[in-house]
Amino acid sequence: MSLKLKFIRIIKNISPSNFLKSNFKRIISTIESSLIERIYAMNIYHNFFKRSISRSPQFNDGDAFENISRSWSHLLSLTRDNKSLGESPCCYVEFGVYIGTSINWFSNNLKHSESTLLGLDTFKGLPDKWETADQPKHSYNAQNDVPVLDDNRVSFTKGMFHETSEYWINWLKEESQKNKNIIIHIDSDLFGSALYALLNVAQCCDNFYVIFDELLGDECRALYAFTKAIPTKISVISSGARSYNKITREITQRSVCFLINTNLKTYPENFII
Ligand SMILES: C[S@@+](CC[C@H](N)C(=O)[O-])C[C@H]1O[C@@H](n2cnc3c(N)ncnc32)[C@H](O)[C@@H]1O
Repeated sequence: MSLKLKFIRIIKNISPSNFLKSNFKRIISTIESSLIERIYAMNIYHNFFKRSISRSPQFNDGDAFENISRSWSHLLSLTRDNKSLGESPCCYVEFGVYIGTSINWFSNNLKHSESTLLGLDTFKGLPDKWETADQPKHSYNAQNDVPVLDDNRVSFTKGMFHETSEYWINWLKEESQKNKNIIIHIDSDLFGSALYALLNVAQCCDNFYVIFDELLGDECRALYAFTKAIPTKISVISSGARSYNKITREITQRSVCFLINTNLKTYPENFII
């Protein structure tokens, strides 16, 4: 049989439905489950987020603040016992420090002398590839150097979050018993890092503010997984401007601040209000 005839026979047998029937499982199994989870979490988050920002007066026409530091400033302007967070004793923990840009901002803007700030990082860069943004392992490598800040309330702990957990979990437990406002800043990019941070912080306190540097797929997936592990109510406080990520082709909110409450007996109907 000529090559041409053979080819025609093969093509005739490959009808779209035959092809799909015999290859469905194979196609599905090539899609990484993390991708589906990321898309699912982003979808849920965006629907709730849109609804809640459209109800909040601080968001101009349902949009966010124009930059990330305006979002942080809004968080620190919230009042408790007639005092803003910025003027009250706070305990700030940053997961992902790199060269210290964001922890430096918080050191300048958390004014109370009893506020304490702890930065956690390997200082050798991401411990794994950041799939969503296509960043290789070891991106954000600070060459093992901790930032130097002129503020003795700030300290740093070097290592993977799980390696240094005994220290920082005890520290955070002690700080939260002092009735300080707890602010957690998650800027560690990876799903595992963000989920590990959230689950362990929840062992130390049941009411805390959390800032996500950006809610791209991985952190969003971690936030969603967290709410499925522990009954959680989340209130949106503020957000920096939306930015478009060229690699993932996703529009994401930068520096989203939430109040997280895990002091619940059961899962709420909507985890974000
Ligand atoms: C985007 S950078 C942080 C940027 C920083 N907030 C700033 O303002 O410049 C992400 C950091 O997270 C750290 N990181 C991610 N996962 C980690 C983990 N499991 N343990 C320790 N550090 C981690 C990386 O080393 C990296 O420095």
